[in-house]
Amino acid sequence: MQQRFIKKYISVTSPHFTPLNNYRIMKITVIGAGNVGATAALRIAEKQLAKNVVLIDIVEGVPQGKALDMYESGPVGLFDTCVFGSNDYKDSADSDIVLITAGLARKPGMSREDLLMKNATIIRDVTKEVMKYSANPIIVMVSNPLDVMTFVAQKASGLPKERVIGMAGVLDTARFKSFIAEALDISMQDISALVLGGHGDSMVPVVNYTNVAGIPLTELLPQDKIDELVTRTRNGGIEIVNYLKTGSAFYAPAASAVEMIEAIVKDRKRIIPCTTLLEGQYGIDNVFCGVPIKLGKNGVEQILEINLSGSELEALQQSAAIVDENCKALAALLA
Ligand code: NAI
Ligand code: 2OP
Repeated sequence: MQQRFIKKYISVTSPHFTPLNNYRIMKITVIGAGNVGATAALRIAEKQLAKNVVLIDIVEGVPQGKALDMYESGPVGLFDTCVFGSNDYKDSADSDIVLITAGLARKPGMSREDLLMKNATIIRDVTKEVMKYSANPIIVMVSNPLDVMTFVAQKASGLPKERVIGMAGVLDTARFKSFIAEALDISMQDISALVLGGHGDSMVPVVNYTNVAGIPLTELLPQDKIDELVTRTRNGGIEIVNYLKTGSAFYAPAASAVEMIEAIVKDRKRIIPCTTLLEGQYGIDNVFCGVPIKLGKNGVEQILEINLSGSELEALQQSAAIVDENCKALAALLA
């Protein structure tokens, strides 16, 4: 009903609206209408990254209500993307991109790994539902533990490795950049940084590749201050959980996922850290881990292998080993 309403009454009267036939892709589905999913869906609509955004959740009424509310913001938000909510995966049919945010979020005192079994079952099941109705989507994973859930989605979907990508490096790097900007009292825009590895306490902020307008960070801040910012980045997720108490971060995570989606939709060939399947790169084999990739319309178009110091490489390999251990614990679930 709402879908028909949207098609009939869609307005293109504002000069700011992108004409419908300019949309490069037709449909982006967001699974999970919670904090991250709903925030991401609204950003996708506001950026007009697809003609249709479908929001799916297991809870009846929630995706419908949130999607209708988003759609009704179109006239003031100046977008005419159709936002539609559903509990039925049939409505995700023929999606070009699927953003998966379904699952349980961390509570205080809970590690990302605590979520492992519960979210793995959810991600396996929702991925299979998605694949019933979309032949060849690109899946962007958000649910935690991130690297392991990206592995689960790739296994459950049977999609080529290039088409199942995890969001964590963009968020962790954004946090690192925001802390650097605050410490130096400078624009966030001038900072280039890189955080690699699994999305957890073992992540690897690579200080040697961090600079401000080309000036190495090490020339601008003393080592003890850099160490402090690195530690704060590693604990960036839990810092927010401790404030919120009943959930985890969602504004920066949603913005980060949408940055990845925008790179795919616009074929921007962005070089950004994302979770992808490594097959020998960095001495890591058959494990999903965060590394710099080229992200474009085909998903992961290239994995960049940069020179790391001995300790950075060791930290990256240790981080991947933790992911690998958790993936192996799920063998029975995915058999
Ligand atoms: P939330 O609790 O607000 O939303 C999760 C939604 O998933 C809920 O609406 C729930 O009803 C839905 N859901 C649960 N089981 C489902 C199923 N079987 N099918 C469809 N929908 C289902 O949580 P939030 O804050 O949106 O976080 C979502 C996930 O993303 C969590 O696992 C969280 O840890 C993770 N996360 C990952 C980040 C990253 O950097 N990769 C950053 C932030 C969150
Ligand atoms: C975060 O880093 C909870 O993984 C989520 O905020």
